[in-house]
Amino acid sequence: MSSGSNGIILKDAREIEKLRRSARLVRDILEEVEGRSGPGVPTIELERYVEKRLEQAGAKPAFKGYRGYPCCLCTSINAEILHGIPSARRLKEGDILGLDLGVVLDGFYGDSALTTRVGKVSSEADRLLRVAEEALELAIGEARLGNRVGDISAIVQGHAEKNGYSVVREFVGHGIGRALHEEPQVPNYGRSGHGPLLKEGMVLALETMLTAGGPELKIMPDHWTAVTADGSNSAHFEHMVAISRNGPDVLTRQKDAVAAGR
Ligand code: MF3
Ligand code: CO
Repeated sequence: MSSGSNGIILKDAREIEKLRRSARLVRDILEEVEGRSGPGVPTIELERYVEKRLEQAGAKPAFKGYRGYPCCLCTSINAEILHGIPSARRLKEGDILGLDLGVVLDGFYGDSALTTRVGKVSSEADRLLRVAEEALELAIGEARLGNRVGDISAIVQGHAEKNGYSVVREFVGHGIGRALHEEPQVPNYGRSGHGPLLKEGMVLALETMLTAGGPELKIMPDHWTAVTADGSNSAHFEHMVAISRNGPDVLTRQKDAVAAGR
């Protein structure tokens, strides 16, 4: 581990492999949770599943207790952007459900998010999810040596706004390693060619948060749940990517998926 400029901690090959294990575990569980979601399922049931899986895997939750957050998982429905708290509330057909999970395995953090369709959703909701996921893929494509953080920010904002959507300003992507949140911050808005230079060994949790309406949000009385101020739908996707000589190395993707994507 070495310290680059701007307080950014660069990871060596061994550390990247540890982060890959955390990343794959978090992504596996997240996709299992997605498979267990559906109309009629209370979100607390998904939390219980995560608790069990983490114990089996010998991993710890990253979010539970973080600044007092009460759960392992975040479940954010429709206008909820992120940090929704699992509860007895049952999912219903047509909802869009944001799932965000963090783990600690062997001292290294994994963090990933996706937004899933509960049963059949409206074509508008479907398009929002598609564009938000595309925005994350474009962001990953910019996570290359020689680029700057602003190149990632600009492409996400451009893709969102071109499609009539907004990007959230209050929450950003981040470096990740032996801490959940490390430098640099990676906003979903900004100018290409600006911000910290991307260097080999940086590991970023890129998270795109888009809203179907305006960018303003408010925090609910539970002090956690962030919802769009205008009540429009919101979507959130997050992957971890290491900056490498061979291009973006998506740690939250299984090997076959990586190979197939190249
Ligand atoms: N993926 C979000 C993040 O990296 C989730 C944090 S939830 C919290 O910031 F509970 F830990 F705050
Ligand atoms: Co994150």
